Amino acid sequence: MIDLDKISHEVISTAKNAGTFIRNQTDKLRSIDVETKGNHDYVTYVDKTAEEQIVQSLQALLPEAGFIVEENTISKQGDAYNWVVDPLDGTTNFIHGIPVFSVSIALMHHKEVVLGVVYEVNLDECFSAVKGKGAFLNGMPIQVSNASALKDSLLATGFPYHDYTRMDSFIDLFKWCMKNTHGLRRIGSAAVDLAYVACGRFEGFYEYGLNAWDVAAGCLIVQEAGGQVSDFRGKDNYIFGREVVASNNNISHEFLNQIQKAFNPIKKH
Ligand code: IPD
Ligand code: CA
Ligand code: CA
Repeated sequence: MIDLDKISHEVISTAKNAGTFIRNQTDKLRSIDVETKGNHDYVTYVDKTAEEQIVQSLQALLPEAGFIVEENTISKQGDAYNWVVDPLDGTTNFIHGIPVFSVSIALMHHKEVVLGVVYEVNLDECFSAVKGKGAFLNGMPIQVSNASALKDSLLATGFPYHDYTRMDSFIDLFKWCMKNTHGLRRIGSAAVDLAYVACGRFEGFYEYGLNAWDVAAGCLIVQEAGGQVSDFRGKDNYIFGREVVASNNNISHEFLNQIQKAFNPIKKH
């Protein structure tokens, strides 16, 4: 069995090194550096180079592991272990000079996430967790908030920008949240949204259309901080199922109930 605590320290260094590279490129980025991958989906040399650096470092750390990476800089499937990497979560913020973006790295053992690191680049905040060992922010233990109702909760989401099929449900929930909670934030990095649920800044987060690299690390960090994570049905398909709900324990039932009312998964899927 591999030593996850030791690996976690190395992954934290890897994420911070990539973050330093990204931070140093902030003022150098030109508009011609921005490529369009798809509808509202952008990438720059910074995303790709950061991913190459991360992959190189993780390969040295665990040579038998494979990779699920956003920018396709490597194609390798591992038998037992796979790294799940988003080198720059919040590219749209990055290219517009909005200083909220992160590096997200998770390690999966078969279908289970066993290690997660989310590094918020500009605040120099590193969130980390190893399965069964708690969650940390810059080495200090963190916990989800203890708010007990949605009326006392600040929530986060991401606006759909590829898949508009569930837009009406999204807007219905949006209206409900505006009227019945402390508010709804869209900060532009799903990994940071999840990390903020883990440390109690947000009570809850939901989004659909996300990929495994957006959520794998953050979901483990939420769970290890005492929170709940599921898909919109309240089931376990939140890493590859393209929908995620994360919350502190206390509000999870009420939150999921509102999400299901709006999205009515049985009818709209
Ligand atoms: C995006 C961010 C954003 C979310 C998008 C993601 P990217 O990731 O996490 O918050 O709303 O759905 O694609 O493209 O910046 O890595
Ligand atoms: Ca992402
Ligand atoms: Ca990305």
